[in-house]
Amino acid sequence: MEEKEQPTGGPYFVGKKDELIQAKRSFRTIEGRDILIIHHQGVFYALDSYCYHAGGELQHGDIEDLNGKLCIICPKHKYKITLAEGEGIYKATNPREKPPVPRWLSKGVKQRTHTVSENNNGDVYVKLSDVAGWIESDYYQGEKGKEARERA
Ligand code: FES
Repeated sequence: MEEKEQPTGGPYFVGKKDELIQAKRSFRTIEGRDILIIHHQGVFYALDSYCYHAGGELQHGDIEDLNGKLCIICPKHKYKITLAEGEGIYKATNPREKPPVPRWLSKGVKQRTHTVSENNNGDVYVKLSDVAGWIESDYYQGEKGKEARERA
């Protein structure tokens, strides 16, 4: 009987550093999970490629520095997600504050992020997040989420 390989989370080879830098954004499927690898200002990031809100394709999002954190802006409804932590952030005012001053607030981690590493030969690897429990972007990696993305 053929033995199925057990998912381990990696690390998996995802490409040569030079190529990934040139591409800036690279899409990879690892253990059935669609991942976006981003190279921005000299740093690699990896996160689930579909936005936690409604499955928007983060691959096409702009990157901006918001409140000192690099964020990807989902092209679909402009939700902001920090690249390093996958935190959903938004700007709001407290009406009880006089005068109300808009401030950045966090919704907590909403997008699963993964670990990128490289070796001296310029090989880049991604290890899938092993954070236990549900993170909202998990939904768009499953069958139901896939159907929802296709319907949208
Ligand atoms: Fe990303 Fe709505 S799908 S902001």
